[in-house]
Amino acid sequence: MKNYLSSMVIFSFIFMSCNSAAQISTADKKIDAKVDSVLKLMTLDEKIGQMVLYTSGWDVTGPTLKSDYIDDIRNGKCGNIFNAHTVEYVRKLQKIAVEESRLGIPLLFGYDVIHGHKTIFPISLGESASWDLKAIEKSARIAATEAAASGLNWTFAPMVDISVEPRWGRVSEGAGEDPFLGSQIAAARVRGFQGNNLADTTTVLACVKHFAAYGAPLAGRDYNTVDMSQRVFLDVYLPPYKSAIDAGALSVMSSFNEFDGVPATGNRYLLTEILRNQLGFKGFVVSDYTSVNEMVHHGVVANEEEAALLAIKAGLDMDMQGEVYAKYLKKLIEKGLIDEKTIDQSVRRILSVKFKLGLFDDPYRYCNEAREKRTIYAPEHLEAAFDVAKRSMVLLKNENNILPLKKGEKIAVIGELANSKRDLLGSWKAAGDWNFIKSILDELKEYNGEKNVLYAEGCKKMGDDRTGFAQAMATARRADKIVMVIGEDAEWTGEAASRSNINIPGVQTELLEQLKTLNKPIVVVLMNGRPLVLAEENKLADAILEAWFPGTMGGKAVTHVLFGEYNPSGKLTMTFPLNLGQVPIFYYEKNTGRPIYLGNDKYKSKYLDSPNDPLFPFGFGLSYTTFEYSDITLSTNELQQDGNIRASVTVTNTGKRDGEEVVQCYVRDLVGSVTRPVKELKGFEKIFLKAGESKKVSFTITPDLLSFHRQDMTYGTEPGDFKMFIGGNSRDVKETSFKLIN
Ligand code: GLC
Repeated sequence: MKNYLSSMVIFSFIFMSCNSAAQISTADKKIDAKVDSVLKLMTLDEKIGQMVLYTSGWDVTGPTLKSDYIDDIRNGKCGNIFNAHTVEYVRKLQKIAVEESRLGIPLLFGYDVIHGHKTIFPISLGESASWDLKAIEKSARIAATEAAASGLNWTFAPMVDISVEPRWGRVSEGAGEDPFLGSQIAAARVRGFQGNNLADTTTVLACVKHFAAYGAPLAGRDYNTVDMSQRVFLDVYLPPYKSAIDAGALSVMSSFNEFDGVPATGNRYLLTEILRNQLGFKGFVVSDYTSVNEMVHHGVVANEEEAALLAIKAGLDMDMQGEVYAKYLKKLIEKGLIDEKTIDQSVRRILSVKFKLGLFDDPYRYCNEAREKRTIYAPEHLEAAFDVAKRSMVLLKNENNILPLKKGEKIAVIGELANSKRDLLGSWKAAGDWNFIKSILDELKEYNGEKNVLYAEGCKKMGDDRTGFAQAMATARRADKIVMVIGEDAEWTGEAASRSNINIPGVQTELLEQLKTLNKPIVVVLMNGRPLVLAEENKLADAILEAWFPGTMGGKAVTHVLFGEYNPSGKLTMTFPLNLGQVPIFYYEKNTGRPIYLGNDKYKSKYLDSPNDPLFPFGFGLSYTTFEYSDITLSTNELQQDGNIRASVTVTNTGKRDGEEVVQCYVRDLVGSVTRPVKELKGFEKIFLKAGESKKVSFTITPDLLSFHRQDMTYGTEPGDFKMFIGGNSRDVKETSFKLIN
């Protein structure tokens, strides 16, 4: 209690000193004054303690663990904890910090709440395929609400890394290949997590990761080298980070990879010149898990003391799990290599966030057992997870409209994943619990009747055991249609989960081939966390539904889409290649000097053994209905520097069912001082159309949307001719043209 009293005395001193500064005008200035008042009371050890983040033993998300973190909290040597949740455990640790440490500074509690806390939503790549910003923001809002109810106040999300590398397992955590869509989703997720008031007990601090360009590892191998031009970084990879920061994110996580030869965690160009000086970031930067230590492996420093120096000089404020700041920052000051002002700057940033979270007003504000009980799995949360899961699914094929299934049809369900609950939650499932949820099989039986749903596992999602094939064939013979659920193990995506081939694993496709010999309609449902090579499966299946790892309500969502209770509306946000040899393949490619459409057959940018086109392009997704697009009309064909162009199309639902369509608008800059992509997404709108209904959809194109880093690296536009494309994906589009005038 002694400590608690002393800290309460300290806090009252803080408030008194603040009130005396009557001229303080804004909330931030008030917080700055409070932060300075605390800083004045802190020893150097206590300041460094605020720059330290340790994992509790509750969850393991990296290579090292530390057992004495509780002592460090008590001694003011650890100001932040991650991988600890539930009100009971958070309160226990917070009590040690507030009542047993000398100053009683409250802890931050972080966790990887990536796509839900207890109610798990589809993996982020799946959610992005909904192209539904409201749904995505709502998903983050609910994740934050449940996380905050569990005592947490910081999530290590959104992950906004652009990627064109399906071999990289972490594409599952992001929003795909496109900077325009990725930027809008990044902002939506930050708004969802942080809301309008960080001190609200339904919001948590967002953490934009992984800064920067982590999504471009050579060969798709996690943690591998990233090497790209500054122009590609600034025009393609940076925008989503900028968008998240513009949306108010107050923490950023540095990435494991090197960037232009310097690991991001010690890269001053990234952490200070770009992040602070260009993007105006005001929060704090936390390293990734021991990424400070790992700069020794990178070979830019000889030891961890040098790593601490490189990181603090680059602008890193907090060391996650590495114990490098804890061990060496004081030594660096004693050696005169850094001064205490540098430490103070980082501590100010961290304390400022703690004040904004309301932790100094009430360190236990996120610890309310009754709120935790009524919030977790609230019916409206489960309903939202069901809705987002449906919206995320992408219909890739539907030959002869064998989908939707008809209620009462006898279906044979095949595949281990059909009966899996764990895999529905995907990777980074945080505190998600699959024991109470229903599998796809459970939901199909419930919807269509036990007697109308036969099941045989057939084979595992991995391995070469074919002993179940015969049973699967026998089961399928007794049904009208076959629904085979195939894909990846949930842990085959996410961190440290790169694959050297991106086929369907094991013998799942072999079994599909055998089932095909029965000449019955086959529906393939995919559960995966990355684009896969599906050329074989596409030949064998009559219909393909991309379900991703759809979350807590995924079984019901798959069932309702298969039976047409919901008309699928998702569109791919990453290109699905025809084969691995095409990778990296993405829609915003350059034309090259020998484009494939040139007259001669030989000397052009193509393969001897494969087409250039992917199997399924960016933005692609079918519906149970059909849509037709009118030609594009433009408000003008000449865009002035101070003007805009309104581009419009009329979209008609020409089918027999109501449905949703994502109308996409792309442009192409035909001539630039540097080569320009053949298409760039500059607008989209998801619309609902009743059967037979038409709707006019318009996009406003401004010069700013056409800006890029020119040959001299200045940012802006160049006058000249442009094409515009509007359609339901990046391939099948209506086209027109316009000029940008000086
Ligand atoms: C991991 C991940 C990062 C995560 C962190 C904490 O290594 O790279 O995304 O937030 O550690 O779990």
